[in-house]
Amino acid sequence: MNPTSLGQIDFGSPLILAPMAGICTPNFRLLMEDLGAGGTVSELISCHGINYENQKTMDMLKIDERENRVGIQLFGEDGESMAKAAKVALRSNPKFIDINMGCPVRKVVTKGGGSALMKNIEELAPFFSNVKAAIDVPLTIKIRTGWDADDVNADKIEKIALNEGVEWVAIHGRTRAQQYTGLANWDYIEEFAQNATLPIIGNGDLHQAHQARARMDATNCKALMIARGALRNPFIFLESFKDGAQSQNSLFTGDDYFEAIDRLYQYTCETYERERTILVQLRKLLVWFAAGFPGCAKFRGSMFASQDIEETMKIAQAYYTGLGNSPKKINYDEVFMNSGHG
Ligand SMILES: Cc1cc2nc3c(=O)[nH]c(=O)nc-3n(C[C@H](O)[C@H](O)[C@H](O)COP(=O)(O)O)c2cc1C
Repeated sequence: MNPTSLGQIDFGSPLILAPMAGICTPNFRLLMEDLGAGGTVSELISCHGINYENQKTMDMLKIDERENRVGIQLFGEDGESMAKAAKVALRSNPKFIDINMGCPVRKVVTKGGGSALMKNIEELAPFFSNVKAAIDVPLTIKIRTGWDADDVNADKIEKIALNEGVEWVAIHGRTRAQQYTGLANWDYIEEFAQNATLPIIGNGDLHQAHQARARMDATNCKALMIARGALRNPFIFLESFKDGAQSQNSLFTGDDYFEAIDRLYQYTCETYERERTILVQLRKLLVWFAAGFPGCAKFRGSMFASQDIEETMKIAQAYYTGLGNSPKKINYDEVFMNSGHG
C-alpha cells in the first residue's frame, strides 16, 4: 500500500472510502481506515442544516480525533450558505471540504443542490470561489459524468474547478439521469482523467477487490473511490493490495470478520451515546458484511429480531466465528443498494 498525495492531501493509499449517507459516520470511517482505506469522506451534510444550527446536522460534523484523513462533504445550492457552513465545518478539523455535486435525489436536486449544480455551470466559478475563500483546507468536489447523456460535461466542470483552486475531482461514472442503473462508464472516466489537469478520483462499480486492483494497475486516475463494495466486503481495501486480489473469494475468515466487528462495536459505542442509535448502526453493517456467507439470510432475520446490543453481538459472534473458512459467494449480478446521494 503506497501513500498517495493528491494536491496537498496525503492519503495512506490510492483507495479511498466514498461518501455514503447514513453509513460514513466516524465509527465506520475509523474501521475502514484501520482496514486499509487511504482516506474517507463524511456523508453529505446540509449547509442549511448547519447554518440553522440544527442539532442533528451539527452532530454529523463530528470527527473522531483518531481519524487521520477525513474530509467533510457539504451540499447546498448557493455559494454564500455553503461558505458559511464550511467555516463551521472547519471546527471539526477535516482535512478537506468536499462539495456534493452528484446527489441525484429529487428533494436535493429540485432545490438546486447535488447533481443540479452540474446543470448551470456558468454559476459554478463564483460558487466555488465563495467556499474556497472561506476555508483554509483544500476544497474538493465529487461529481457525476453529467446531468444526462446529452449533457456530459465533467470536462468543462474540471476546467472551472481548476481555475478556482479546487484540489481534485472525484467522479462517479454515471449521469444523474442514470441514477444507479447501467454500469459506470469507465471509458469516459479514463479519458476524462487523461485530459484533466487536476487529480481525478475514479468511482463506480468497483465491487470486488480484484476489480479495484485491476483498475489501480491500469488507470489514468490518481486514486479510486469505493462505496458499496466496502459494505459487503469490509476487507476490500486490504484485499485489493494483496496478490490474491485476483480471486473472487475473500482472503479473510469468519474470525477475521468478527475481530473487525468487535472493533466496529467499540468505535460505535464511542461515537454514539443512545443505545438505540448504536444498535441501528451496528445491525445494518453486520448484516451487509455477512452477504454471501452461508446462512446469511437466517442471520439477517435473527439480527433484526434481536432486542439489544448485547444480544446482537452474541448472535454475531456465534455466526461469524462459526463460519470457519467458508467462502463468500455473492451474486454480483443482483442489484445491491441502487440508490444513494451521489
Ligand atoms: C447508500 C448510499 C449513500 C450514498 N451517499 C452519498 C453521499 O452522501 N455523498 C456522495 O457524494 N455520494 C454518495 N453515494 C454515492 C457513492 O459515494 C458512490 O459514488 C456510488 O455508490 C458509486 O460507487 P460504488 O459503485 O463504489 O458504490 C451514496 C451511495 C450509496 C449506495
